[in-house]
Amino acid sequence: MNKLIAPSILAADFGNLQRDVEMVNNSNADWFHIDIMDGVFVPNISFGMPVLKAISKHAKKTIDVHLMIVDPDRYIKTFAELGADVLTVHYEACTHLHRTIQAIKASGMKAGVALNPHTPISVLEDIISDLDLVCIMSVNPGFGGQSFIENTYKKVQQLKELIVNNNANTLIEIDGGVTNKNAKQLTEAGADVLVAGSFVFKSDNPTETITDLKSICN
Ligand code: DX5
Ligand code: ZN
Repeated sequence: MNKLIAPSILAADFGNLQRDVEMVNNSNADWFHIDIMDGVFVPNISFGMPVLKAISKHAKKTIDVHLMIVDPDRYIKTFAELGADVLTVHYEACTHLHRTIQAIKASGMKAGVALNPHTPISVLEDIISDLDLVCIMSVNPGFGGQSFIENTYKKVQQLKELIVNNNANTLIEIDGGVTNKNAKQLTEAGADVLVAGSFVFKSDNPTETITDLKSICN
């Protein structure tokens, strides 16, 4: 399968948001990755609905929203209305995960679950067939620009095995510290979608960096 690159807008220049959105539109990137943080689930606040609305207005590719918020059920419909194509909630923030996943799908979006670095893959055994995407956090959520946690490779292999054993169609996404140094090993282990924030937006030529990442893993 074609491996996907999802630049994380968290690392974009918010003073030039439209310019950076157009850069992604015109690049070899596949998705927009949008990080929503509430200052409660994670110790940081990123941006909320009005900013997502502004991004959606210009974005011409799949909008992949990563919710790092408590009680995400409250906002599922709102995110659908704002143009989210994929909505990912955290396993650690959902008491009734199955219900939340069904609600996301009923709102017309693909449903994803993100796992913190300390959360084992095994917690997804009874829900994997319902998931369109699993996001393995390769850093502790809350901030861009952190170092990749090496234990992630093992989790990608375990998740791939779980997906294959259940005949599921779930995509594996990796989020945090992705660079040209780990992209190949991650996709070889089974990753389908690589999120990259700082590595793309802090580079001299983000468009070229996206093309390089894409060609490393395809
Ligand atoms: C972290 C966010 C990531 C972040 C990745 O909490 O979920 O999506 O933007 O940024 P980098 O690629 O800089 O680690
Ligand atoms: Zn993210």
